[in-house]
Amino acid sequence: MSARMDVLLGAQWGDEGKGKVVDVIAPEYPVIARFQGGPNAGHTLIFEGRKHVLHTIPSGVFREGTLNLVGNGVVIDPIVLMKEIDGLKAAGVDVRDRLLISRRAHLILPTHRALDAASEAEKGKSKIGSTLKGIGPTYMDKTGRNGLRVGDLERNDLGERYGQLVRKHERLLANHENVPDHRAMEQEWMDAVARLRELRLVDSEHFLEDTLRSGQRVLAEGAQGTLLDIDFGTYPFVTSSSTISAGACTGLGVPPNRIGKVVGIFKAYCTRVGSGPFPTELHDALGEQIRQVGHEFGSTTGRARRCGWLDLPALRYAVTINGITELAMMKADVLAGMDQVMLCSAYRVDGRTTERMPYDITGGVEPVLEPMEGWPASTANDQLPAALERYIARIEAAVGVPVTLVSLGPDRAQTMLRDASVAQ
Ligand code: GDP
Ligand code: IMO
Ligand code: MG
Repeated sequence: MSARMDVLLGAQWGDEGKGKVVDVIAPEYPVIARFQGGPNAGHTLIFEGRKHVLHTIPSGVFREGTLNLVGNGVVIDPIVLMKEIDGLKAAGVDVRDRLLISRRAHLILPTHRALDAASEAEKGKSKIGSTLKGIGPTYMDKTGRNGLRVGDLERNDLGERYGQLVRKHERLLANHENVPDHRAMEQEWMDAVARLRELRLVDSEHFLEDTLRSGQRVLAEGAQGTLLDIDFGTYPFVTSSSTISAGACTGLGVPPNRIGKVVGIFKAYCTRVGSGPFPTELHDALGEQIRQVGHEFGSTTGRARRCGWLDLPALRYAVTINGITELAMMKADVLAGMDQVMLCSAYRVDGRTTERMPYDITGGVEPVLEPMEGWPASTANDQLPAALERYIARIEAAVGVPVTLVSLGPDRAQTMLRDASVAQ
């Protein structure tokens, strides 16, 4: 009997804790596969007193016996990937047997990074707040049919194709001032590419078909989050890939009828890093408190994350768009000890109340906040505080799917599985 591919993805603006949950559930899956994004992602794993941040490599890499696939939908910066591999080696993990790379994945060039910086500088005040890893320009070259792919490293005209693309980029960069010097990175990029060529390059769509046919389960690991999706996110303040469950199909070559569970990861509150609308954002001392207690600083860029209350219209939207079948709630410990917490149950837009995500939430969208009793820090290992259970039950009732996992701290061990209670 052929197995299913489950999908795990972010249900908010990224940094929900996807890396932690993948690491926790990875032993159930022989294969973990990233389906989009690239080094803009930073997925944090903490166990046995050690912390690891992964950017391109899937979060199953610390589990022996798990294969980790970088899928065709991912964009790879060879320099970042090699640094990651070296970091893992220093931590005692040799990725050679555990890491597979799709030949169809696109490559980020030093000039893509320069173009990202130039584009952001030009936008001035309306900049996206990009991580400046070259993500947007690389996906532009992919859809513009100009990109270089991992499989091209096996051809003998790589140098020529690289030169052509760089010349095109240089013509674009000539219109900008103060662009980073991409030439300084060129040799390092070439060296990294030479190492990339020695990794296990695969036709990942066939590999996944064989894996599923042989009855082995696959977990697709998303990067970023639903509200950063190129189509359904808060455009233009989004990333350049399909972060939603449909993106797992195109980003891996697995058809929709092979998808099993869709697990949505969300925080007990909301964060956002970079620019763009954020209806429940707290601009006060409480927002600062959440930032400090939750260590809400970017895993990739170190930037302070903006913090605010949980946004139910946005979460419901994520459940709908992705077909989420179950939810994992992270960082409930960060709000512990507050007398009262707030939930945004609806938006007020132009004098009307709506529970739906409007076309544009820039300005003019006011959150309708509902007070909920706060909860104490959890002490018993197998039981959540009653007020936290009520908070979760309120969320389940609002979005119609169960919260099956609750995370109460960054460590792998600080995780509670919960019986599905209110699925409707
Ligand atoms: P990802 O990009 O979705 O994998 O998330 P990040 O790793 O960027 O950000 C999540 C941050 O929260 C990391 O620093 C995690 O170590 C931390 N974290 C994850 N789950 C919990 C939790 O339940 N409680 C606390 N306090 N921290 C958590
Ligand atoms: P993970 O996988 C949070 C944000 C950036 C910026 C916008 C576009 O760790 O959850 P880009 O570099 O893609 O052009 O940036 O998206 N962003 C993220 N925010 N978590 C991420 O990844 C993100 N990746 C990109 O801050 O606002
Ligand atoms: Mg992150």
